[in-house]
Amino acid sequence: MNPWEAEADLVVVGSGVAGLTAALDAAAAGLRVVVVTKDAVDAGSTRWAQGGVAVVVGDVAGDSIDAHVADTLEAGGGLCDPAAVASIIADGPAAVARLRERGARFDAGPDGRLARTREGGHSAFRVVHAGGDATGAEVERALVHASGGLPLLTDHVAVDALREPDGRVAGLAVLDGSGRPGVLRAPAVLLATGGYGQLYSSTTNPETATGDGVALALRAGASAADLEFVQFHPTVLYTGPAVGRRPLVTEAVRGEGAVLLDRAGRRFMTGVHPLADLAPRDVVAAAITRRLAETGTSCVYLDARALDGFAARFPTVYAACRAAGIDPVREPVPVTPAAHYSCGGVVTDASGRTAVPGLYAAGEVARTGLHGANRLASNSLLEGLVMGARVASTVVAELQEGHLPATLLREGGLPAIPAPAVPLADRGVVQRAMSGAAGVGRDGAGLAAASDAVEAATALAVPIDRAGVEDAALTLLAQAVLAAAGTRTESRGCHVRTDFPARDDVWQRASLEVVLDGTGRPEVRAGKAVAA
Ligand code: SIN
Repeated sequence: MNPWEAEADLVVVGSGVAGLTAALDAAAAGLRVVVVTKDAVDAGSTRWAQGGVAVVVGDVAGDSIDAHVADTLEAGGGLCDPAAVASIIADGPAAVARLRERGARFDAGPDGRLARTREGGHSAFRVVHAGGDATGAEVERALVHASGGLPLLTDHVAVDALREPDGRVAGLAVLDGSGRPGVLRAPAVLLATGGYGQLYSSTTNPETATGDGVALALRAGASAADLEFVQFHPTVLYTGPAVGRRPLVTEAVRGEGAVLLDRAGRRFMTGVHPLADLAPRDVVAAAITRRLAETGTSCVYLDARALDGFAARFPTVYAACRAAGIDPVREPVPVTPAAHYSCGGVVTDASGRTAVPGLYAAGEVARTGLHGANRLASNSLLEGLVMGARVASTVVAELQEGHLPATLLREGGLPAIPAPAVPLADRGVVQRAMSGAAGVGRDGAGLAAASDAVEAATALAVPIDRAGVEDAALTLLAQAVLAAAGTRTESRGCHVRTDFPARDDVWQRASLEVVLDGTGRPEVRAGKAVAA
């Protein structure tokens, strides 16, 4: 099949909060933008976000940007990049204001001002929300509505970056829903593809979260970091052993007073952390995992019976509970941790640039240094808004200043379309290996055995459709996460090693970077030291 071809100034891969924010800003600045997304426009993770956007807007007594920065650094377990934290959080209020100008409607309190809730690790009520617990759905609705006029290719999966002989990006190779190849020529490609929660059998993430952007960036020569820090959300509705996307029970339920109980009805977070049930997410997920092991049970319980107006305040959670035959107003809700967020990703600078000229990353796919070893609740939509906007202004400036070529039209025809055979394993094997050995609580022997299991299921193949692209990405991410988790012989944030239960601040106060070696295998190396 001959590939079709189109040209743009900026190709945005992904249509969640980061991708659409970048696309809208770049188009408003006059760039020709094409958005590529492998499913429906709203099929990514953004629309599933519940709690809200963490941001210090207006006059909230007792809160400040500095306090938000401090909470983020504390949650991040010593691995955040303090400069990235300070600048992203400082840009939050303007980014949220821009989103509201674009039509997003946030909930108001009785005084008419923005309502705010609290989540784990936050020292103040600063999380703004929409539709009660449907913040992501409102953010996505507003951005999709605002981007109505933009060229948008749904059902097109990104395969690989096209590169010029000097290494810079020349565009993107894609496959449409029937496996027909196409080429989008552009001097700038933004990866906004979300995370890799689908590495695990049980996750809050939709089916689209298969790590495609991290895999594509690694193959293009970029580096990734902090991949071992997979955040498990502590409270996912437990309805028996199940695979695939599981309903989230937002931390805001605890923010507004609910508490965790074990099978015997005892609270177990008091004494674990000064913030008790509102400790940072890694602490709560680890405490639940320990309690499950001690009691030989599969779930703990979230008691929200003391909350007023549960159904109106948390309509999404209420509907999920009722669909499972549980009434959160009258009975404690069974919950368990599940894979939720990829704290690491493609290494970028403060403007979203990767190490490959012309390749950018923003949102969950990226590692800016905001999250460190554990993301603070509701900092993800914030990061997507801020970094999406920054990438747009960076690409505009780089085109104007001539750092990116204004046009790729040339006599030599298309740049070479890569179609390499890549390692590809059965998705079920990968998910079982990761769930068994790389969840909350890992050890060296288990990680090595999981690597062997993935290896044994892997063969070289050329991806010819979306499923193949996704399986290749999941295989590479499994290899990379297992290698990084095996290398980090300490416990920190979301990375809990049962064989190395303590932090090792002497030499581990740095991120681990992953690059591909000459044979295409992930190689782990010490990254830049984190400023103290
Ligand atoms: C939640 O609502 O608990 C999830 C929010 C987040 O992941 O930041």
